[in-house]
Amino acid sequence: RHHQGYPGLFKSLAREFDHTTCRLISLSTPQEVDQIADITLKEILTNDKPAEVIYKNDQRHKVDIIPSPLSTSLNEAHIQLDQKSVVLVLGGAQGITAELVKHMSQAYPCTYILVGRSADPRNEASAKEFEGMKTKEEIRAYLIKSGKFTSPAEIEKETTKIYKNNQILRTIRDMEALGNTIIYQSLDLCDEEGLSNLISSIYEKYSRLDGVIHGAGLLEDKLFKQKTTSSFGRVFDTKVKPLRVLAEQLRTDCQFVVLFSSIASVYGNKGQTDYAAANSVLDDYANALNKRLQGKVISINWGPWKGAGMVSSTLESEYERRGISMIPLDEGKEIFLNEIKYGTESQVLIMSGNNW
Ligand SMILES: NC(=O)c1ccc[n+]([C@@H]2O[C@H](COP(=O)([O-])OP(=O)(O)OC[C@H]3O[C@@H](n4cnc5c(N)ncnc54)[C@H](OP(=O)(O)O)[C@@H]3O)[C@@H](O)[C@H]2O)c1
Repeated sequence: RHHQGYPGLFKSLAREFDHTTCRLISLSTPQEVDQIADITLKEILTNDKPAEVIYKNDQRHKVDIIPSPLSTSLNEAHIQLDQKSVVLVLGGAQGITAELVKHMSQAYPCTYILVGRSADPRNEASAKEFEGMKTKEEIRAYLIKSGKFTSPAEIEKETTKIYKNNQILRTIRDMEALGNTIIYQSLDLCDEEGLSNLISSIYEKYSRLDGVIHGAGLLEDKLFKQKTTSSFGRVFDTKVKPLRVLAEQLRTDCQFVVLFSSIASVYGNKGQTDYAAANSVLDDYANALNKRLQGKVISINWGPWKGAGMVSSTLESEYERRGISMIPLDEGKEIFLNEIKYGTESQVLIMSGNNW
C-alpha cells in the first residue's frame, strides 16, 4: 500500500485554483475499469463541493468531522511511564512540541530523547554569552552593537540561530529541572539511515522505547506552480521519511506513537500543497501503524497555535480571515496530555473554538 498524501494535496490545490474543481476519488474496494470510468464521469458532472469522496462498493461517502469529546474522569490512563521509561521526540527541542513535551514530562518524568537538525547548543562556545536573551530584538541589537556582522542578512541569520539555540537550551534545562534525563541528538530526519541507527542504539542502550512523538516539520509556503521539487521534497520528507523507519524499527510493545499533523491536511491550505500532503500521509499511516503496534497511534490534526511554533503573522492573518482561531498554549498543553492518556481514536482534529 502506498501512502502518498493525496487528500491534503488535492484540497490545497482546490484552494489555489479558484475556477477549477479539484476532487479526489478514493476507491476503498476494488472496481472494474468500466465502473471506475463511470464513477469518474459521474464525479466530473456532479456540482456539489466535496474535495474528497470515497467509494465503498457502489456507495459514495464524504469525509466528515464528528465531535468526539474525551472522557477523562472514569478512565485509567492508557500509558504507564516510570523513571526508567524512554520517550523519543522528533522535533522536540523547540516550538510547540517542546512546550507540550515539557508539560507531559512534569506528569511523567523519565528519559526524553529530543531530535532536531540544530547542533547541540551546549557545545557552542558562544552559547553562554547569549543565554539570558529572551527575544529576537534583544539578540539583534546585541549583534549590531558588537560590530561582528555587517550585512542585514547575516545579522538576521545569526539572530534566528541564536534565538533557536536559546530555546533548545531552555527546553533541556527546564526538563532537567523537572527531574527528567534529557538527551539531545542532532539529526536531519530526512536521513533515514541516521534515524534507523538512532532507534537501534536506543534499544541497545535501554532495551526499551516506550513512546514516540513525531513533531518535526517545516514550512516553505509557495503556490504550487512556484514550488521547486527540492523544496517540496524537504517539507514532505521531514514528516514522511521517519514513518517508514518507525514502522520497521519499533517493537510492538511501544506504548504510544503521536504524529503531529495539521488541519492543512483536512481542509487544505493555499501555498501548502507539500505540507498538507505530508500531513495526510501521517493521518493515513496512523491507521496502518495502529494495527501493527500493541500501543496506540494517534495523528493529531492541530489547528494553529498561539504563543509558540511555526505560525507566522501572515499565516495567522490568513487563519483569522477564514475564522480559525489560535490554540492557547496553556489549554492546549492539557488537551494534549489528556489525548495521550485517554484518547481512543487514531486520528483527531483539535482546534480552538467555542467548544473544543
Ligand atoms: N505551530 C502550529 O500552529 C502547528 C499547527 C499544526 C500542526 N503543527 C505541527 O506541529 C509540529 C511542530 O510545529 P512547531 O510550530 O512547533 O514548529 P517549529 O517551531 O518550526 O518546530 C519544528 C521542529 O522540527 C525540527 N525539524 C524541522 N525539520 C527537521 C528535520 N529535517 N530533521 C529534524 N528535525 C527537524 C526543528 O528543529 P531544527 O530546526 O533544529 O531541525 C524544530 O524543533 C510540526 O510537525 C507542525 O507541522 C504545528
